[in-house]
Amino acid sequence: MALTRAVSRAERLYNQAEQVLPGGVTAAARINAALGRPFVVARGEGARLYDVDGREYIDFCTSFGASLLGHGHPAVRAAIEEALARGILCAHELPEHAVAARRIAELVPSAELVRFATSGTETTWHAIRTARVYTGKHVVVKFEGHFHGYHDYLGYSAWPPLDRAGPADAPEPYVESAGIPPELQQFVIVLPFNDLDALEQTLRARADEIAAVIVEPINYNSGAILPRPGYLEAMRALTRELGIVLIFDEILSGFRTGPDCAQGYLGVTPDLTTLGKALGGGTALSAFVGSREVMGAVSPLGGAVHSGTFNAHPIAILAANAFLELARTPEFWAHLDGLGKRFYPGLGDAFERAGLPVWVQAVGARFCLLFGLDAEPTNYREAARYDRDLATRFYGAALEEGVYFHTMWHHGFSAAHTMADVDRALEGIEAAARRVAAS
Ligand SMILES: Cc1ncc(COP(=O)(O)O)c(C=O)c1O
Repeated sequence: MALTRAVSRAERLYNQAEQVLPGGVTAAARINAALGRPFVVARGEGARLYDVDGREYIDFCTSFGASLLGHGHPAVRAAIEEALARGILCAHELPEHAVAARRIAELVPSAELVRFATSGTETTWHAIRTARVYTGKHVVVKFEGHFHGYHDYLGYSAWPPLDRAGPADAPEPYVESAGIPPELQQFVIVLPFNDLDALEQTLRARADEIAAVIVEPINYNSGAILPRPGYLEAMRALTRELGIVLIFDEILSGFRTGPDCAQGYLGVTPDLTTLGKALGGGTALSAFVGSREVMGAVSPLGGAVHSGTFNAHPIAILAANAFLELARTPEFWAHLDGLGKRFYPGLGDAFERAGLPVWVQAVGARFCLLFGLDAEPTNYREAARYDRDLATRFYGAALEEGVYFHTMWHHGFSAAHTMADVDRALEGIEAAARRVAAS
């Protein structure tokens, strides 16, 4: 007799969505490999998510890093209510724009001038345009395994298949999307991260063409990989010497290690920085910020045109001011630090007790679980050898234990997580790991 499985509400909704949304999703990355469909959510509250079938989960995706405050933080709700009460005054300058910019300038070492945008993709695109105008050059250096959004100029070698990535010391640019005109490849150079010789040779040989080097200072998108000691310092010195703009993409690393972002944590100040995700307190806000001199290239001061109807939407700016106010308080960081100190060793112990080989690579409030690896990775190729099948099976089992991880590279907790949440999550994680190890 054939067994009939009850179809969940999530599956029904997904089937309906497929009729009107390409692939049933509004962002391709939202497909959860463990479910074979998106994780369909009804609401979030603090550290918890509730799916459309009424199940509760402790959330370690935190909106891919945007919900650093947790879901529905009271200060963000109050800010949004104020924006509503003031008429959702879109496309006008408000006094709060400069307040937000000043707060960013106080916290982020590279920020003298701040220009807001909406998404991370948009802001890396404008940062390289600004660098091109400032230097009068066009080529951009990026690193293998570093992700800077979805626009055509940087759509190379974020997560290349290892058999199509070319030599390790001179990667071939791998095009991440169909439809990028082949002519654009002449404007990008892909280098291995943490290889100072490759960087120095390339920058010296092509300094006349290179406008910018863009880098994730902590490469969360490929395993929370840290720069080797001295590497970013050397990158800073070389770019300064050769007239190349250094851009830190801190859309993900920003506000994970402290209020001064990865640049403060690592002690290296770039010319330009891109921010996003956590900045808006869970609303859509990004920014490119930098020295007065380089940001002088941005319109109306300079020729790098930047504008937009929805730039710095009041809902997002008021929410960002609420976030930045909290980010100025030492208690905020002490709480995140305390969570990490309990959670990360606990994760290592849980996997060990369960007999599942996992390298836990964690920096600040975000981390990666590298299944099947036993050493800290120093670049994308080392991290990309992790066992995807094991990872997917674990994430599926964790969902059944009420712990939500998305099935992609990086995870994180929020300021709304408590020590009790961490302990409860560790129990679920160990139970899931045991089931996978036994299967
Ligand atoms: C480092 C980095 N840069 C850029 C982006 C693109 O941001 P968005 O998804 O807001 O366009 C992301 C998103 O994950 C990111 O992690």
